[in-house]
Amino acid sequence: MSRRRLIGAAGAAGAAALGAAACGSGEGGPAPHDALRGTVVAQTGDIPVGGGDVVIKGKLVVTQPEKGDFKAFSAVCTHAGCTIQEVERNIHCLCHGSEFDIATGEVRHGPADSPLEELSITVDGTDIVLDEKERGA
Ligand code: FES
Repeated sequence: MSRRRLIGAAGAAGAAALGAAACGSGEGGPAPHDALRGTVVAQTGDIPVGGGDVVIKGKLVVTQPEKGDFKAFSAVCTHAGCTIQEVERNIHCLCHGSEFDIATGEVRHGPADSPLEELSITVDGTDIVLDEKERGA
């Protein structure tokens, strides 16, 4: 287990110890990323090619599956609502081990059985901006 993963697992255990603060709450309320619409959520240079990062204190995940191709996803795990903790070659939820594809948000490894919510973004120079509204909404 890498040091980063160990720290993430310790954080997940701590969150679990606090009860439902990170998991299983928020049904029907605003999503954690909603307050960020229309704002810069990351810089292109901070998102690794073939990986990604959890940004804005865990409110969303930004990835760059191919050079210059950026994606954003909700950081709320579709299994039980934990906040996604890390991104390597996949997006990882350390609460119960689900993994999601960095290009599509599709489940690569359960127990989650539905993809992460993809969010519309616009790249403006080096700024990655979370769109005011989802495209097609
Ligand atoms: S809440 Fe993410 S794997 Fe269970």
